[in-house]
Amino acid sequence: MGILKSIQGMFDWAAGVRNFNDVRFIDWKMPPAKLLSGDSASGFDAVLHPLALEMELEKFGFPCRVGEPQAGPSSTLYEVKPTGITSIKVLDKILPDVGLRLGLFGIQSKGALPGKQAIGVEIERGSTPTIQLAAMASSMEDHAIPVPIGVQPNGKALSIDLAKAPHLLVAGSTGTGKSVFINSLISSSLLLRDPDQVQFVLIDPKMVEFNRYAGIPHLLMNVITEVDSAVYALSVMERFMDDRFKEISKVGCSNITEYNSYLARGNSSEPFLNRVVIIIDEFADLIMQNKNVEQPVVRIAQKARAAGIHLVIGTQRPVVKVVTGLIKANVPARVSFRVPSSIDSRVVLDEKGAEHLGGPGDLLVKGPGIFKATRAQAPYVDTDLVERLVAHWRPQDAFLNRYN
Ligand SMILES: Nc1ncnc2c1ncn2[C@@H]1O[C@H](COP(=O)(O)OP(=O)(O)OP(=O)(O)O)[C@@H](O)[C@H]1O
Ligand SMILES: [Mg+2]
Repeated sequence: MGILKSIQGMFDWAAGVRNFNDVRFIDWKMPPAKLLSGDSASGFDAVLHPLALEMELEKFGFPCRVGEPQAGPSSTLYEVKPTGITSIKVLDKILPDVGLRLGLFGIQSKGALPGKQAIGVEIERGSTPTIQLAAMASSMEDHAIPVPIGVQPNGKALSIDLAKAPHLLVAGSTGTGKSVFINSLISSSLLLRDPDQVQFVLIDPKMVEFNRYAGIPHLLMNVITEVDSAVYALSVMERFMDDRFKEISKVGCSNITEYNSYLARGNSSEPFLNRVVIIIDEFADLIMQNKNVEQPVVRIAQKARAAGIHLVIGTQRPVVKVVTGLIKANVPARVSFRVPSSIDSRVVLDEKGAEHLGGPGDLLVKGPGIFKATRAQAPYVDTDLVERLVAHWRPQDAFLNRYN
């Protein structure tokens, strides 16, 4: 604890930073699973019966068998097996008419399905169903820092572990779901991790999103809403990172995982190091007002992984002036909601496609372990669930002394 103590003076900064000595060894009470009830996974909309599609395709000269539909978040996939000798091109040609006859919103062929003698036919549903966080929770239990991405078109839940990512960029035009995504990321840790496992530094120059988390023990510092405080907080975090490195290397370890297992073997009575996630909701606002934020952000992005410090950077404007080469090179995980053009999509994902995404929550994700941009519908976390989580944790903050 010596090193943390030696920087304590610096943390006695006006905005108030947690006294690290107090964070440890508290018998945290985790939120009960029933906290999610009332937020139960929504069922998917009723889908077109396969027989109806089969009959209509036959009428248009495409005899076939249609398998059980696979419901995804915004579309349903049907496996169509031709029973006569017909060309796949015929299907492409007749589908718009079939759609018209059945009154369907978007119907398209996905081509031959790999490994099957069948063609995929996708039918979009009229409205986007809401994915609840409960539908994602079980897929994230093993993650050190759980990040729910969403439900894929094949109906499978997709999540990543930010501890492995190790930094994430979240881009998308206004109203496409970035803040909801970031709130669901925070909520997942409030649900599954205690403050000795994960803590946050929340930076929000728009001053709207993060104030609701004030006073919970998962905050390493108070919510930061001023540009100048943000620059200062980032430089404090740089020092925090360097001090962690000193502490880790002092005992001959090279990263947080090694260090914590060194402690677990009973080598020292120092407290375990937790994971710290620095979230900047609107990075463009910050970097446009004060260019000085780039330097600490880049340094943290380059080095912080081994110290257990992770970055989540949100931005409405995925332009190179904001998402600079240096930042991009060091932030391997990317989520893009809809963006205005394929150029923007390339800035975020290094490929086009995000310009064609649909309504709020529709996203493409790429990152370690996800090599090709993958589509998903992000969960919707309503303020009610966030309030229940905050109400659960806030009383436990009374043990702590952040405002010293
Ligand atoms: N995953 C989702 N599922 C359903 N609806 C969503 C989802 N995400 C966002 N929405 C809807 O879209 C609205 C806007 O989302 P959000 O505030 O996250 O946008 P944003 O990208 O942060 O916009 P801005 O850049 O203006 O801050 C939400 O209030 C909600 O109604
Ligand atoms: Mg927002």
